[in-house]
Amino acid sequence: MDTMDCIYTRRSIRKYKDIPVEWELVGRVVEAGSFAPTAGNLQDYRFIVVRDEDKRKQIAQACLQQYWMEAAPVHIVACAEIKRIKQFYGVRGERLYTIQNVAAAMENMLLAANHFGLGACWVGAFDEPMIKTICGIPDYARAHAIMTLGYPDETPPQPQKYKLENLFYLERYNNRMEDFHVVVGEYSPTIARHIRETKKALDKGTSKLFEHIGKKLKDVHQKITK
Ligand SMILES: Cc1cc2nc3c(=O)[nH]c(=O)nc-3n(C[C@H](O)[C@H](O)[C@H](O)COP(=O)(O)O)c2cc1C
Repeated sequence: MDTMDCIYTRRSIRKYKDIPVEWELVGRVVEAGSFAPTAGNLQDYRFIVVRDEDKRKQIAQACLQQYWMEAAPVHIVACAEIKRIKQFYGVRGERLYTIQNVAAAMENMLLAANHFGLGACWVGAFDEPMIKTICGIPDYARAHAIMTLGYPDETPPQPQKYKLENLFYLERYNNRMEDFHVVVGEYSPTIARHIRETKKALDKGTSKLFEHIGKKLKDVHQKITK
């Protein structure tokens, strides 16, 4: 699948077919996560793959009773190890980079899942101490996000998105671009405007041309009739 298609067609999937996901694909998805960029290449993320049904039920419960999660044959609990990144980058490393590193890995995994025809959903709402207990997460790590994975049993429509021109600032915050569509390639409104303007200019031009030809013809006619 083309990269941009993969990005555009990814959806959060919350309904799954009752069929397992091949180990190989689970591995490829997690591997995609591990290819995400990390601050200082510290690769502080860790991924707990949960296939056990009972454990998945407990996780769904710990995710504030999101019982739809139980139907996903795989849960991936994405964690971050804190110690090394804190040593390297201090508070910024601990509070910001760990989160960004795991988030980048999550997005990679979501896209990989879509690429392989799998469905996935990012789950961020959970009781952290409960997840810590269920998955045996030590004190030097933290669960940041959970991903459900399985064969999709729904095709949700694209959720509403803000218009890009409202999110896109040029050079400084709040500075919206004029002629945004020209720059980012949403050409149709711009092309339509240019066609209108060209037509107008041509109309003006041709009427002037006819005026000129008319005058010349008149001159010729006068010369002939003299
Ligand atoms: C940080 C984060 C936390 C999320 N937590 C949940 C969650 O707990 N439960 C859920 O069903 N979806 C969750 N989602 C998925 C969003 O609801 C979903 O991405 C959003 O509605 C847009 O839909 P889309 O993913 O199909 O584009 C979360 C997404 C993110 C990025």
